[in-house]
Amino acid sequence: MSAPVRTDFPSGADLADPEFWRRPAAERSEAFARLRALERPVVFTDRATGRGFHALVRHADVVAASRTPEVFLSGPGVTTPEPARWVRAVFGDSMVNLDDPRHADLRRIVSRAFTPRLIARVEDDIRAVAARIVDEVVERRPQDFVTAVAAELPYQVICNMMGIPERQRREILAQVNHASEHTGVARSRIRVPGRGLRALARMQGVIAALGRERRRHPTDDLISALVTADVDGRRLNSRELGAFFSLLLVAGVETTRNALAHGLHLLTEHPEQRALLTADLDGRIGGAVEEIVRHSTPIIQFRRTLAADHVLNGAPLAAGDKVVLFFGSANRDEAVFTDPEAFDITRSPNPHLGFGGGGPHFCLGAHLARQEMKALYRELFTRLPDVRSVGGPELVPSSFDHRVRSLRFTFTPPA
Ligand code: HEM
Repeated sequence: MSAPVRTDFPSGADLADPEFWRRPAAERSEAFARLRALERPVVFTDRATGRGFHALVRHADVVAASRTPEVFLSGPGVTTPEPARWVRAVFGDSMVNLDDPRHADLRRIVSRAFTPRLIARVEDDIRAVAARIVDEVVERRPQDFVTAVAAELPYQVICNMMGIPERQRREILAQVNHASEHTGVARSRIRVPGRGLRALARMQGVIAALGRERRRHPTDDLISALVTADVDGRRLNSRELGAFFSLLLVAGVETTRNALAHGLHLLTEHPEQRALLTADLDGRIGGAVEEIVRHSTPIIQFRRTLAADHVLNGAPLAAGDKVVLFFGSANRDEAVFTDPEAFDITRSPNPHLGFGGGGPHFCLGAHLARQEMKALYRELFTRLPDVRSVGGPELVPSSFDHRVRSLRFTFTPPA
């Protein structure tokens, strides 16, 4: 690292220590506020690996790094700890871990899923899935919002988009749950052990088989669009298809599920904001969704690696240095947000970095996620006006995502 390793931790907290991520949210927030007030980004070193990173905690720094992708590379990996090299060799590279020209090439292909025609079709589908989920909630009265509602919506929407047959959905979900149980940035020194990988391999095997079938008999779903050639003759091979689907499950399902759960809890804890929202659902739902994503920041951080020596906001960074972009801290930056701890659905403007700091890796599914959140809250608050969380969310301590394991909820069933 170019900068000397700090051991005195001016914030009073060591971001490389997994214990820090188990502390209460308010305490962590205060530590980040102290870091933002410092002149330069601080270097933290993982004592187990001896590897260090510069913590980018200010809004302006996260934006600058995100928008200078030729210097701040994703290719060496964006997650911490780094996956073993053979994992990437076996499972293929997902686009978050690629730089141009491979990133641009892959992103162009998968962006086919997000053409106006496909999005318009998906919007009707999202509304239908949200309505069906609320039907089931009314009928079955489940207790956990996460499994019954928040995880179900994004998973069903992605399966519909990809064209995953109904009969294979439960099996894939079981493999995914299995894989995510055995991975975890949270417990940040835990490597991905064999059981999780076997589950991932089985899941990718199912997707690869579907890809081969759709190549022979294309339909109008996303898998067919990805495995058949475009005008330039490019299509995804089986490995790329498997890697993309895994990414969608992690990037698209877990994030949206966490945002939905945090949102219900925030709106329960802030009755005045909820009253504002329900008084003008159409007018305020967009602002509410942005504020939920800002306030909860489902993805806490992503990493970049320096391609060359570079000065960021007066801080000298050397080629090979790692930097971690703390989206959660940027979203509390008092230089950008007035009273950043407050939950205010009328906040405007709201230039949060919950979907990334801009640049080529900006969340591909941001529009989709917004549509899902709007559709679900609209359905919930219209049909179950007193729906609310009970107690706080059960969180999974993590330095990577703001994951909710479960959230109890209640409502008065409609007559
Ligand atoms: C509230 C929900 C979501 C949040 C908070 C979220 C957040 C993010 C963030 C922070 C990034 C990294 C941006 C960067 O490095 O600049 C990202 C990337 C990505 N997201 Fe999302 N996301 C959400 C929903 C979704 C959905 C629904 C999908 C799937 C359709 C999706 C697909 C992706 C993909 C494919 C990438 C990688 C893009 C690339 O590397 O080019 N996300 N997301």
